[in-house]
Order: sequence, then structure tokens, then C-alpha cells
Amino acid sequence: MSLPQSVTIVEVSPRDGLQNQQHPISLEHKINLVNQLADAGLKVIETGSFVSPKWVPQMADSAELFAAIKQQPGVRYTALVPNKQGLDTAIASGVKEIALFAAVTDEFSQKNLNCSVSESMQRFEALAQLAIDAGMQVRGYLSCVLGCPYAGSVAPKTVSTLSQQLLDAGCYEVSLGDTIGVGTAGSTQALLDNMTQNNISMSSLALHCHDTYGQAIANILIGLQYGISTIDASVAGLGGCPYAKGATGNVATEDVVYLLDGLHIQHGINLSKLIDIGQLISKVARRPIQSRAAVALLNSAASQS
Ligand code: HMG
Ligand code: MG
Repeated sequence: MSLPQSVTIVEVSPRDGLQNQQHPISLEHKINLVNQLADAGLKVIETGSFVSPKWVPQMADSAELFAAIKQQPGVRYTALVPNKQGLDTAIASGVKEIALFAAVTDEFSQKNLNCSVSESMQRFEALAQLAIDAGMQVRGYLSCVLGCPYAGSVAPKTVSTLSQQLLDAGCYEVSLGDTIGVGTAGSTQALLDNMTQNNISMSSLALHCHDTYGQAIANILIGLQYGISTIDASVAGLGGCPYAKGATGNVATEDVVYLLDGLHIQHGINLSKLIDIGQLISKVARRPIQSRAAVALLNSAASQS
């Protein structure tokens, strides 16, 4: 199997990384994070989320954040949108790309969106059309593709069918979310085989791995071998979904960059700047750095000085 020559990393730390943090993160720290990520070479930054502040208080200042960041040319600053109210705020905030987020199981969908999967898909089909009419790019997410915290195992065919539905609705890409990080190289392979059997192109898929069981890098390698060239990641492994209890953060961007470097796959990111950002935001969030590569590189630098 051939590997992609270059990979786009979708940096989700300002959204997925911060949405579930225990301590409130100030607007100023969020602005710094987004600006620094762009300086480090990230070209797609999931900057915020226009969801209900009652559901996810940490994302309540996304409109202010979009107004305050210094948007660099060539960088896409994206946001999550759950409904028409969120889309209207995104449009008013000048957001050019949104992500709609559905789930594979009704159980998770009810907890995360307060509606069933089919209700959410109906809503998202209409929202995608409205967003496209407003000149936006629309990405789709599917949560729990390798397992659900409430319903357990998930059939690959269900994931393929829902992915196709999101693509048909106008999403240019579907990000496959292993929300609770239970996936393995084997289950990732089975899922991508099913996608292939159902004629879903790998160029329309991204992988979004949480690293609860330490399998994210192995699963991403499988994705790369199948030809997936868009990987979601979060600096310092920040992250988690408030409606997926026990799940840890996303795969750390530093670890993905280290993997890509070892495979000679281009990514355009400055690893040393990224490690600095990870140190800073981890301090702000009062949590340890979850990137194994960052910790090893920092230790190695410290032992040489
Ligand atoms: P609901 O309670 O059914 O909504 O929630 P509602 O329409 O009845 O509204 C309730 C209140 O929320 C109202 O306020 C609305 O105005 C307000 P009130 O009248 O009570 O004062 N409201 C809003 N306010 C601001 N912006 C909005 C908005 N919508 C309603 N857009 C709803 C339904 C979808 C709103 C809710 O379930 C929600 O916000 N869910 C978001 C949950 C979330 O953000 N989860 C984390 C992101 S998903 C994730 O992390 C997974 C991912 O990373 C992939 C993976 O890892 O698998 C993407
Ligand atoms: Mg996530």
C-alpha cells in the first residue's frame, strides 16, 4: 500500500482540546493559542464551536474569538455548528468553514445533540444547504465510528452509510471520530475496508482519533496506508467530549508530526514551535502534556543542556 506524499493536519485543540477543560480558559489564552498554531504552520485550525453555552460553557466566547484572532492568508479557521442558531452566529462571525457533527448511534446522538441520528441527519442536510448557499465549506463529523460509550460496538456498514449521507448532503469530507479511543489497527482496517467496498473515496475521509487506549498512532498509520491524507490532532493531546465520559484527549499533534517525519511525509509544521505551544497551553489548562514525542524531545534537550 502506498502512503500519501503529504498530509493535512486539522488542528482541533482550540475546540476539541478546550471544550471539556475543567478550568475556564480565558479569551486571551484562546486567541494566543490560535495565532501561535497558525505561526507554527497549521493550515486548518478548528477555532471554536457555536453550540449552546448551557451545554458547553467553555465554547461560549467563540464569536469573540473569531473577531479577535489575526487570520493569516492560506489558513482555514473553522467552527462546529449544531443547528440553525449556531449557523446564523457563524455567518455573522464571518466564519467561512463549518463542521456539522453527527453520531453513529442514537444513544450518543441523544446525549450530544438531544436528538436521534435520523433527526440530526435531516437537520444537517438542511443546514449544509444553507451553509453552502452562504458560500461556506462544510465538513462532516461522525462520532463513535469504532465504538460507543453507551451502545457498545458499531457495525462498519452503518458508518459507511452515514458517511455517504453526509457526503451526499454536501460535506466535502467526513471526519471519522473514534470518540472514546477504543479502536484498534484491526477495527480501523475493517472500517476502511467497508468504506472501500461501498465506493467511498479515501480522499473524502479524515481520521479523528482520541487516544484513550494508546492506539491512535497505530490507527492513523492504518489510515495513511489506505490513502487517507487528512488527520485531526490536538497539540499536547488536549481534548475530550463532555458527552463521552472517560475518553481522553485527541491524539497529540506532536506525535502525529513525529510519525509523519519518520515516514518522510510532508506536513509543513514546525515541531519545535508546536512543542512550545503545547507546553504553554498545558500550563494554562493545568494538565500534563500528553504527547509522548514532546515529552521525550523536551527531556532529551534538557539532558543535553
Ligand atoms: P437543546 O437543549 O435541545 O436546544 O440542545 P434548544 O433548541 O431547546 O435550546 C436550548 C437553549 O440553548 C436555548 O436557550 C437556546 O437559545 C440555546 P434558552 O431559551 O434556554 O435560554 N441554544 C443555543 N445557544 C447558542 N448557540 C446555539 C444554540 N442552540 C440552542 N447554537 C443543542 C440542542 C444542539 C443546542 C445542544 O445539544 C448542543 O449545543 N450540543 C452541543 C454538544 C457539543 O458541543 N458536544 C461536543 C462537540 S461534539 C464532539 O466533541 C465530537 C467530535 O470531536 C468528534 C469525535 O470525537 O467523535 C466532533
Ligand atoms: Mg473529538
